Amino acid sequence: MISIDLAGQNAVVFGVANKNSIAWSIVQKLSEAGVRLALPYLGEKLGDRVRKLAQELPQEPILVECDVTKEEQVEAVFERIAQEMGSLDMLVHSIAFANRSDLEGHFKDTSRDGYLLAMEISAFSLLRLMHYAEPLMSENGGSVIALTYMASQRTVGNYNVMGSAKAALEHAVRQLAFELGPKNIRVNAISAGPVNTLSARGIGGFKTMLEANAERACLKRNITVDEVGNAGLFLLSPMSSGITAETLYVDAGFNTVQLS
Ligand SMILES: NC(=O)c1ccc[n+]([C@@H]2O[C@H](COP(=O)([O-])OP(=O)(O)OC[C@H]3O[C@@H](n4cnc5c(N)ncnc54)[C@H](O)[C@@H]3O)[C@@H](O)[C@H]2O)c1
Repeated sequence: MISIDLAGQNAVVFGVANKNSIAWSIVQKLSEAGVRLALPYLGEKLGDRVRKLAQELPQEPILVECDVTKEEQVEAVFERIAQEMGSLDMLVHSIAFANRSDLEGHFKDTSRDGYLLAMEISAFSLLRLMHYAEPLMSENGGSVIALTYMASQRTVGNYNVMGSAKAALEHAVRQLAFELGPKNIRVNAISAGPVNTLSARGIGGFKTMLEANAERACLKRNITVDEVGNAGLFLLSPMSSGITAETLYVDAGFNTVQLS
C-alpha cells in the first residue's frame, strides 16, 4: 500500500458506477490518504450502487445525483460542495459515453446526435465542471485529472467517435492547464490501458483488445485498475506539484510499441 497523508483536503470524483470503475479505484486511494469526498452519480439506479459502495469508506462522502448534460444538476453538485466542504482541492473527471452503435459500426456513419452526445458527455463536460470548480479552488490552487485513452492519438478499431472525444478532452486538459496555471490549478490526463469496466465492455472487440495489449506491451501484461488509482493519487497530490498539462500513460508501455 502506498501511503500519503492528505487529511483536510476535499475532492470531487465524477464517474463511479460500480466497484470496477476506474473512479472507484481513485476514490479508494484518496480515501486511504484521508481526503474528504463528494461522489456525484448518474441516475438513481446507479445511486443505489454507489451508496452501498460508499459504506466501505471511512468518512461519509457527499452523494449527489449528476447527469453532466443537465446544467442544473452540475450546478447543484458544486453548491453542495460549497455548503458542506467550503473549498475544493481535487477534481476527477472519469466519465465518458457514446451510443453502442457508434462504437462498432463505420465511423463515417456516426449520426450528428451520436457525435454531439459523445463529445458533450466525454469532453465538453470537463469545461462545465471546471467552470464551477475553479472558484472553489482559487484560494489554495488545486489538482484536476481526466481519464483518457490512446485512441486520441492513434487509430484504434471500433473506438470511432470516442477517439474524437478523447482528442478533444486531451486538448481541453492542456488549454485549461494553461488558463488556470496562474491560480496554481494543475490539470493532467491519465491515459489508461484497457481495463475491464462497464464502459469498456461497450466497445466492440474489447476482449481481443485486452489480449493484443498484453501480448505487445513492454511489460507483457495488462495494467490493473489499482495501478491507475495509484497514478491518480500521485497526480492529485503535491508529489506531482511540478506537473501540469501532461498526459501520463498507465498502459504497461503499450503506446510506445510499433503496432506492426
Ligand atoms: N476501461 C478502460 O479500458 C479505459 C481505458 C482508458 C480510459 N478510460 C476512461 O476512464 C473513464 C472511466 O471509465 P471506466 O472504464 O471506469 O467505466 P465506468 O463505466 O465504470 O465509468 C464511466 C462513468 O461515466 C459515467 N457517465 C456516463 N454518462 C454520464 C453522464 N451523462 N453524466 C455523468 N456521468 C456519466 C457513468 O455513470 C460511469 O460512472 C472514462 O473516461 C473512460 O473513457 C477507460
